[in-house]
Amino acid sequence: MIETIQVPSNEKNRGYQSIAGEEVFLEKISEISTQTVARLSTGQDELDRVLGGGLVVGAVVLIGGDPGIGKSTLLLQCVDAMQRQGISTLYMTGEESNSQIALRAKRLRLNNSQVSVLSEICVEKIIAYLEKIKPQIIVLDSIQTVYSEDISASPGSVTQVRECAQMLTRYCKTHNITLILIGHVTKEGTLAGPKILEHTVDTVLYFEGDGNSSFRLIRAIKNRFGAVNEVGVFAMTDKGLRQVNNPSALFLSHHSTPVSGTCILVTIEGTRPMLVEIQALVDEGGASPRRLSVGLERDRLAMLLAVLHRHAGVAFFDKDVFVNAVGGVRISEPAADLAVLLAIYSSLRERPLPSGVVVFGEVGLAGEVRPAPRGLERCREASKLGFSRAIIPKANQPKQAIEGMQIFPVERLEQAIGVIKDLW
Ligand code: TYD
Ligand code: MG
Repeated sequence: MIETIQVPSNEKNRGYQSIAGEEVFLEKISEISTQTVARLSTGQDELDRVLGGGLVVGAVVLIGGDPGIGKSTLLLQCVDAMQRQGISTLYMTGEESNSQIALRAKRLRLNNSQVSVLSEICVEKIIAYLEKIKPQIIVLDSIQTVYSEDISASPGSVTQVRECAQMLTRYCKTHNITLILIGHVTKEGTLAGPKILEHTVDTVLYFEGDGNSSFRLIRAIKNRFGAVNEVGVFAMTDKGLRQVNNPSALFLSHHSTPVSGTCILVTIEGTRPMLVEIQALVDEGGASPRRLSVGLERDRLAMLLAVLHRHAGVAFFDKDVFVNAVGGVRISEPAADLAVLLAIYSSLRERPLPSGVVVFGEVGLAGEVRPAPRGLERCREASKLGFSRAIIPKANQPKQAIEGMQIFPVERLEQAIGVIKDLW
């Protein structure tokens, strides 16, 4: 439909006068032509899955993570794989020299790599070069190093990061170029870090993992072209990142004899169930006992301890309580509650939980055990990995039996502790 704007003649000095007489194109949603988005494979199935089935042509993707986690390594591996599929790629670096990139490529055994490298940090120049080179995919390593000549703030500041990202996004969107921005999570928190860009880009991925473990998780926090909270699992090796295709048993530490203070949780990461070992240590504390958690929320821990006290009569007034999710994995779902509490209980009683047990379920303030999403899948995965007993919320009780798996449905925290005592 074409409409012409009529501006009354007595309306003078108004901003919208400038478009008087211009044609406006309005489209009805149903009449807008849509195309299924074209996707490119990054050469890494795990990353493709997190992206929702590959990199969408023309999308802007932000990859955030702590320094040293492996962002540059992963992206170099990806652009090389895509270049080998015949896609023209450009790796822009403001952090490292070209020879450092070449050394990394050598270490990654990317023989005879045809990826172009450009070290430039002025965004106006970068856009001028893009105009000439016309690549299909670009990686900018990192967004914190670039600056615009029009802004007096220093590179890495909020204004620079935001403006540069917007200029590049605008350019890439109009030219159908896929843009991958690397952003460091700054130590001071989120200021000037990837957080301020989350709303401008199509997809936000975060790289997680702890420095002591070789495993790395990539998680989609926002995705206009796929599901969020999907995770991909990688292992950092001496030849770069290698994807882990069957990660459900990754976050278990295999003890030769059962130890107290551990409980196996079946959690859902994105679309798949994973088993994670939750460890707890209850120790004599001083006048102000500590509550610490790694990979789990600390406020939630304090709440769970209060529930344990009130509804199961187990008090921790003078005790330190530490909990940890093995392997540097971060767990945010409340379905971890019951496993955390049973790990704590086991540590307190200094007795290992009965063998072959897995647990999941949210615990409410009234001591009730609430259902978790997709309980059946969780039980099936645990059974597949050889676990034989599951303490789960009553509402998640499977309708049919699961082979080799004894189910203990519970409605309250006290019942769950009762099950443990009966099995002991
Ligand atoms: P890097 O990709 O530079 O991290 P980021 O860009 O996120 O800052 O990777 C950093 C770490 O990875 C570094 O400590 C060395 C290690 N690494 C390996 O273990 N194997 C490898 O093949 C490569 C290239 C790096
Ligand atoms: Mg880097």
